[in-house]
This record gives sequence, structure tokens and C-alpha cells, in this order.
Amino acid sequence: MKVVFSLGGSMVCPDDIDKNYINKFSKFLKEISEKCKVYVVVGGGKTARKYVDVARKFHANEFFCDVIGIYATRLNACLLMASLNSDHFSPFESIEDASKSPEKIVVMGGTHPMHTTDGVAAMLAENVRADLFINLTNVEYVYDKDPKKYKDAKKYEKIGYDELIEILNKGEMSASANNILDLVAAKTIKRSKIKTLIMNGRNFENLKNAIERKKFIGTSVE
Ligand code: UTP
Repeated sequence: MKVVFSLGGSMVCPDDIDKNYINKFSKFLKEISEKCKVYVVVGGGKTARKYVDVARKFHANEFFCDVIGIYATRLNACLLMASLNSDHFSPFESIEDASKSPEKIVVMGGTHPMHTTDGVAAMLAENVRADLFINLTNVEYVYDKDPKKYKDAKKYEKIGYDELIEILNKGEMSASANNILDLVAAKTIKRSKIKTLIMNGRNFENLKNAIERKKFIGTSVE
């Protein structure tokens, strides 16, 4: 079984680097890699936002801000690799190279401007014909609108690809914008009908249940 994770930067670096979380997540990866081939694409989180905010003050253009964001994702990917005691000293920089890796746990960050690591992870899932794509974020479910702002936000335990795209279309897309899943990822999972779960990345028991196809808390996209 092949599982691709998009590990949100908000997990790895919410305000500062979350060493404890990285450590727990790498232990979890080692455990599941006994049974699955695992790919992880790591997000930029606060690292990306801090650098991009300063670059914008210097009037860097959006392309350059994306490039800076990509470096931040790779920096976070390096920390996950360090906690995994990886033999590699740099994360894969292309989907093609990551797809060819014989390692049990394959780690990478971003690739090109105009999408986020969610997009990379979905394309990687497409290229390796993954059985499961899991987006790990800091919310439990996909909602029709921001649950922090709207009390009547509707949560989805299941959602169709088109309905998800409709919700995402209401969001914005600029360097370091924060969305539940990026549109490139949503379009990729739709065109290849990739089984996708969107769930909180901090509950490892729940995550294990999801991978074992047991009952879990989160949104299933199909
Ligand atoms: P993230 O994937 O972390 O995006 O990449 P995000 O929207 O901030 O998501 P979370 O909060 O981590 O889940 C950080 C930034 O790096 C650039 C984008 O500007 C993105 O917003 N980036 C990243 C790219 O341009 N291309 C990539 O392949 C990856």
C-alpha cells in the first residue's frame, strides 16, 4: 500500500519549530512504514510566512516570494529527515526523483511556484499511483466556510471532488495563503480519482485508524 502525506507547515512550525511534533510524527512514520510505502511532502508554516513577509516589504514579486516559500518547505523537510535519521542530506526537489526513490519513507518539500506543497503531494500521489492521499492540517474537517468566523459552518465527513473545488474556489491564492487544500491538489485528485482524506495531523491513533480503513475523524473526499 502506498500512502502520500501532505504535512501542513502548521504542524511542523505553527509559531516556532515544533520539535516534539516532528519527533512523534517521525516515530509514527517509522511504524507505518513497516506495512506501507510512505511519501511525505512537508509544508512551510511560519518559517515560510516569516520570510515571505519580509521579502514583500522589500517589494519582492510573487514569483520570488513563492521561491522563498519553497526554500522554507525544504528547510522544514530537512528537520523531518533529521528526526528520521535519514541517510540523505537534502530532500527530493522533483516529483520524478521522489517517485523513483526505493526508500521506505520518501521526504520532499515544494517544487515550483504557483502551487503549494498540497499540490506537490497530490501530483506525487498521482505519479506513484498512491492508494491514499492524506492532507494533515490543524482542523478536524473540511467546512463550507471558516468555522472560526462562522458558527453555522457545515462540516463534511464526506465530500465530492466538485463540491470541494467549489468551496476552495471561494479562497484566495497568493504566496503563503492559508487554505485547507490548494486548488492544484483538488484538481489533481479529481482527475485521477485519488482517494483523499483531510484530517488533523496531531491525533496519531485516529490517523492509524484512517489508514487501516477503520472509523476516523476527518473528511473523506471521493
Ligand atoms: P506551503 O505548502 O506550506 O503553503 O508552502 P501554505 O499555503 O503556507 O500551507 P500550510 O499552511 O503550510 O499548509 C509555503 C509557500 O511556499 C510556496 C507558496 O508561496 C506557498 O504559499 N510554494 C510551496 C510554492 O510556490 N511551490 C511549492 O511547490 C511549494
